[in-house]
Amino acid sequence: MALLMFNPPGLRGAEGEGQATQFPLFVSTWPFGQPANELARKTVERGGSLLDGIEAGIRLTEADFKNLSVGIGGLPNRDGVVQLDACIMVGRGHQAGAVAAIEGILHPISVARKVMEETPHVLLVGQGAQDFAVDQGFSLQPLLTATAREEWRKWQAKQSDPKRDLNHDTIAMIGLDAAGNLAGGCSTSGLAYKLPGRVGDSPLIGDGLYVDNEVGAAGATGVGENVLRYCGSFLVVEFMRQGLHPQAACIKTIERIARLDPLGVDELFINFIAIDKAGRFGAAGTGEGFEYAVTYPGSSEVRDSAALSSRSVGAIGGNQPEPRGENR
Ligand code: GLY
Repeated sequence: MALLMFNPPGLRGAEGEGQATQFPLFVSTWPFGQPANELARKTVERGGSLLDGIEAGIRLTEADFKNLSVGIGGLPNRDGVVQLDACIMVGRGHQAGAVAAIEGILHPISVARKVMEETPHVLLVGQGAQDFAVDQGFSLQPLLTATAREEWRKWQAKQSDPKRDLNHDTIAMIGLDAAGNLAGGCSTSGLAYKLPGRVGDSPLIGDGLYVDNEVGAAGATGVGENVLRYCGSFLVVEFMRQGLHPQAACIKTIERIARLDPLGVDELFINFIAIDKAGRFGAAGTGEGFEYAVTYPGSSEVRDSAALSSRSVGAIGGNQPEPRGENR
């Protein structure tokens, strides 16, 4: 279908632009973000920092073995190995930490926080990330559950393309405290049956997550290859800097990507959440069906995002050849 223009009358699914009235505010991807948000809020109410809340909430999702796309229980790579990606970012001081393609560690979000707090680096990958985690006291454990192994075996029998339509994916969570400070985190097992070593958008600062303490924060979910080629979350924040409401910034980012990308809006399968420093929040996805969770004192709900295409969420993407005859 044709790309819809900014804020068109026919925009699907949006429940309207949001505004928190009390803080802390937590916004995260998908309905499974709601219990994560609620734990994050309780963590802050009990005296934890905003970052403590983000970490605690995401750990809840990572530990849910029924979730096939985050933490334990995540669908493995082509070789049957679960490789996890995560990042964390705090607005004050503009600090960030991340791990990618890490194996055997239940809580990559906590390792990402250690990278931020205990090293001069931002991103550790693969064996180096695992070695660092073990040095920091994290224990190694199997992450491939019986259900995920069974799904992988079925995929092996079919040898179909990698896919992610068995479940929704990444948790991205962003938060704002009463003092106006922002933070966020993101965690995923990534694209099911991916090539070993594949890294998606989720652990990359500016792609799966971006926090700017002057403006706002944004996070992404969906096909990582279609976010990380556009610095998607960074772009959302930059549109907020220009004065757009967070929901409008998410819509405008998808419009930009869909205009540039040969896949077009129907095939990108990407979604964004955003909050600004004033506590306004919103979300948008390329297709129908992207829901996000919003929690602040006195309110916790799952909302429909704005959708720019009638296609539902779920499928794969990545680098595509240019259309025949164009730029050749
Ligand atoms: N958005 C998660 C991934 O593509 O890895």
